[in-house]
Amino acid sequence: MIPQSFIEELKMNCDIESVVSSYVQLRKRGRISTGLCPFHSEKTGSFTVYPESQSFYCFGCGAGGDVIGFIRRIENLEYVEAIKFLAQRAGMNVPEDAAEDKTALLKTKILEMNREAARFYFSELTKPSGKAALDYLLGRGLEPKTIKHFGLGYAPNEWTRLTDLLASKGFRYEDMVAAQLSRKSEKSGRYYDVFRDRVMFPIIDLRGNVIGFGGRKMSGDGPKYYNSPDTPVFKKTKNLFALNFAKKQKLERLILCEGYMDVIAMHQAGFTEAVASLGTSLTSDQCRLASAYVEEAVLAYDSDEAGQKATKRAIGLLDEVGIRSKVLSIPDAKDPDEYIKKFGGARFKRLIEQSAGSVEYELSKIGAKYDTGTPEGKISALKDAVGLLAEMKNPLEREVWAAKLARDYGTTKEGILTQVQAKVKRRARAESARAINGTAQSNTFGGAVPEKLKNPASAAAEERLLGAVLRHPETLSTLSTALSPEDFVCELYGNFYRKLLSTLSTGFEISLTLFGEDFTLEQQGIIAKLSGLAREHQYSAEDAIEASKTILRLKERKSDQEIGELSGAELVEYIENIRKSKK
Ligand code: GTP
Ligand code: MN
Repeated sequence: MIPQSFIEELKMNCDIESVVSSYVQLRKRGRISTGLCPFHSEKTGSFTVYPESQSFYCFGCGAGGDVIGFIRRIENLEYVEAIKFLAQRAGMNVPEDAAEDKTALLKTKILEMNREAARFYFSELTKPSGKAALDYLLGRGLEPKTIKHFGLGYAPNEWTRLTDLLASKGFRYEDMVAAQLSRKSEKSGRYYDVFRDRVMFPIIDLRGNVIGFGGRKMSGDGPKYYNSPDTPVFKKTKNLFALNFAKKQKLERLILCEGYMDVIAMHQAGFTEAVASLGTSLTSDQCRLASAYVEEAVLAYDSDEAGQKATKRAIGLLDEVGIRSKVLSIPDAKDPDEYIKKFGGARFKRLIEQSAGSVEYELSKIGAKYDTGTPEGKISALKDAVGLLAEMKNPLEREVWAAKLARDYGTTKEGILTQVQAKVKRRARAESARAINGTAQSNTFGGAVPEKLKNPASAAAEERLLGAVLRHPETLSTLSTALSPEDFVCELYGNFYRKLLSTLSTGFEISLTLFGEDFTLEQQGIIAKLSGLAREHQYSAEDAIEASKTILRLKERKSDQEIGELSGAELVEYIENIRKSKK
């Protein structure tokens, strides 16, 4: 653990405005600064920096936190790494304790072992025993220079070649296991290679480190691919295969595909902006990572049903981070790799150029869903299409698609637009009704604060309390005697409060930094948002006290169901208590 005192000193030396300015062009607006959010793609500046509280918050995507949180997000670093990054910037030395030292050391060792392993696998391709693997790769249409570029290799069909090699270079068996390169046999207690008789695909991060491997069987049954499980240096859900190569150019878009071989075939054919998720379906972390580079993605998933499902899911996830998608349909081949092999790179280029935007893709799906030869089918399809158009924010875009629909379905553009307008209004009304009920917020905080949906009043009081305490830390010691974290309905808010209380004994300054270590980035975004709201509403110390009373009062309230189960005497007592607490 890095001492809190160091972190506070570090923050003094890393002014958030100046740190953010290295990444975002900020415009001063009174006491705050705003700019285009680096975490999602936008045209208006929703990204706000508050020098007073040394925090940031984006009203567009909800990212928020302190300077350390900012660096974590933008440099894609873990907490401790972000602190080191900032310390280096500020010319400070991070005091390291033994445990911290140990993980850092293990990470370095794993990266060294991975590099050795990649070298070993690659060199095996040139041996007689690796000829079948080399032939396999050549047979799949890869040129020798592509094999070299991606550092592909072969894990020989033996038990301990890599393990022995690493041992001879002085690496420890436990570390090989931590790297997921070796395993220990339960029976003999000896260590053996995880990857055997597989064609190897090294996974390389943006800094050029080999962080893991995918291994493909050439024949036989069992899983076709085996991918390294997560290790201290490898998180599958947070990396994209080949992004290290793709990002070497000025990127206009990424091509997202399913498999290693698709990516490699595409790069060989000149599409060096192709990347793939790593043996899992696309994650929102991967989308966020992509959004740091591009505003557009071409989805080149497999043409089978699973691929189409994945496409639909990806469109939604990418949209959330502000990436527009286009969908590639691949005729007469199961995936991009097969298509390129069959028809060549030039034909594939034409496919990409013709790839439909996601709207067109959705519309074609709607068209296929109904029998549009009949009036009923036409009406159903138009209804769905109107729903789709109503989701578009840009009126011009709506016009364009309405015109196309009118042509396709033999109706008028105006008629369609009128219906779209009506739908937009209905949705807006429904949304504001939700906001009044106080549940709109619960949607923004989503699964992080699940209790909010059922207890909007308690949640609101808890939010007010946390915001007010962040502005007026001096209230905390008074509060601590009356209110405990267990009184909170929302678990996360209770945990925030517990963290705040812990400063009472240590005497550390209250700021968003406090939440850096124990809370996820999403949770830090939430506390940053609460702190921002408190600033906006100018919560006072009295508000904190008032909110704590509300929390306690609401806690005493029982649900209708609980009241129904009370005995007569209990009911009387309960009502008495409410009367008392209201006074
Ligand atoms: P080939 O062209 O047959 O080499 O495979 P592909 O690249 O077309 O891959 P496929 O569409 O079969 O699968 C897409 C991706 O899913 C692969 O690149 C792997 O990352 C992953 N994958 C495929 N099969 C398996 C498996 O059996 N186990 C695991 N864990 N992942 C797999
Ligand atoms: Mn394939």
